[in-house]
Amino acid sequence: MKILNTHNSASNALRHDSFSYTDGDLVIEELSVDEIANAIPTPFYCYSASTIRNAYNLLSEKLASSGTSVCFAVKANSNVSVLRLLSGLGCGMDIVSGGELERALAAGVSPSKIVFSGVGKTRSEISRAIELGIHQINIESPAELEAVRDVARSLDRRASVVFRVNPDVDAKTHAKISTGKKGDKFGIALEDIAELYAKASAWPELDLAGLAVHIGSQLLDLAPYRSAYRRLVELVSSLRSSGQEVRRLDLGGGLGISYNFGQGPDVGEYATIIEETFADIDCELTVEPGRWLVGPAGMLVTEVMYVKTTGNLTTAIVDAAMNDLMRPSLYGAVHPVLPLQHAKGSEISTYQLVGPVCETSDVFGTYEGLPYLRSGTRLAFGCAGAYGASMASTYNSRDLVAEVLVDGAEFRVVRRRQTIEDLLALETDTVWQTADPRAAAATACYGAAK
Ligand code: LLP
Repeated sequence: MKILNTHNSASNALRHDSFSYTDGDLVIEELSVDEIANAIPTPFYCYSASTIRNAYNLLSEKLASSGTSVCFAVKANSNVSVLRLLSGLGCGMDIVSGGELERALAAGVSPSKIVFSGVGKTRSEISRAIELGIHQINIESPAELEAVRDVARSLDRRASVVFRVNPDVDAKTHAKISTGKKGDKFGIALEDIAELYAKASAWPELDLAGLAVHIGSQLLDLAPYRSAYRRLVELVSSLRSSGQEVRRLDLGGGLGISYNFGQGPDVGEYATIIEETFADIDCELTVEPGRWLVGPAGMLVTEVMYVKTTGNLTTAIVDAAMNDLMRPSLYGAVHPVLPLQHAKGSEISTYQLVGPVCETSDVFGTYEGLPYLRSGTRLAFGCAGAYGASMASTYNSRDLVAEVLVDGAEFRVVRRRQTIEDLLALETDTVWQTADPRAAAATACYGAAK
């Protein structure tokens, strides 16, 4: 793993967004990150509202000619203030759990702009979604289809659904985030759709509106989109020729970003692929991006605790760890490192950056071109706005860190840091139970009833 991060390369690359170096001081929008860190104990996530706004506006502008609407994949960053920001711009939400549904509602998102994806929705989640009248539920299996029908019937409501197709296309991304190949757990096999579609379209409890596809995440090559979308068009034609109505297509997310402040895939080209492929299909179109909208907008700010040298390897132990940002240890991802202070002409060195968690995999990477590090030096891991805070855990009983949103010359703590009291509160007053349902009902309930 190697990241070159000299003062010059970092500042040139950063200029594109709302980050820059001013006199060697890392600035987010109009604020010095170091000054924020004087007020908020590290580690913490820090997001730029303008970067999110600019990304959404650019994407929706590019997609306007094809009439494609955008639903943000909440899993990428589920902070309610981030959701509220996007929703205020007109963005809908793509959720994958009842928890994300409640977050979207808490952010003021209208149920009519919510799409529910995911391979295993519980009946209580389905029930809540149908009662609220959300825009659509994406069905991922025949068994789930029946569950949705049964819940809709019991509520005497009609559920709006589409089928998520597994098009068997290689997304050419990391194996752990590929979702559209045969054998991946997602979606319904292309060849099984026709029969299921015919069956479900006759059910009065369902409004079967169309199809969905999502082939994977962090796509840097756009060719797999072309392949998957072509298959979708063929499927629409064949369904229509057998008399089925298909009026809505959900084209998934997955658009990748550069993790080294380079150029990622061209969003204009992505929009053109959509426009060209679906030009004659006469369907309502939606995309579900997560990472592309928020990834570049966030950083995880951290502080060096200790530096030690073993042989010719110098390691800096920082106060952020794999529980705060799981991507390096889970996928071998490398997030760029930005020193908060980077004076010109300062001594440059190579460091392995690690967290304090007791796991050998708690390593962020080995970085060249860093300034001299010592206890108290502050750094930020960049491109951490997506799948950073939303994937954090409390492993090693480390509390979830604060999240800060910067807008212009102001910042706001949009999630306070968790405390050990918050964590311990979940474990107090537990009561021994028997299997007797009356006794169980009389005691504390753990989680929503399934
Ligand atoms: N729609 C569906 C149905 C999805 O499963 C996903 C992501 C998205 C949309 C949004 O994908 P995006 O535009 O963000 O690529 N934790 C991994 C990424 C997992 C993505 C899972 N599904 C990572 O940190 O790279």
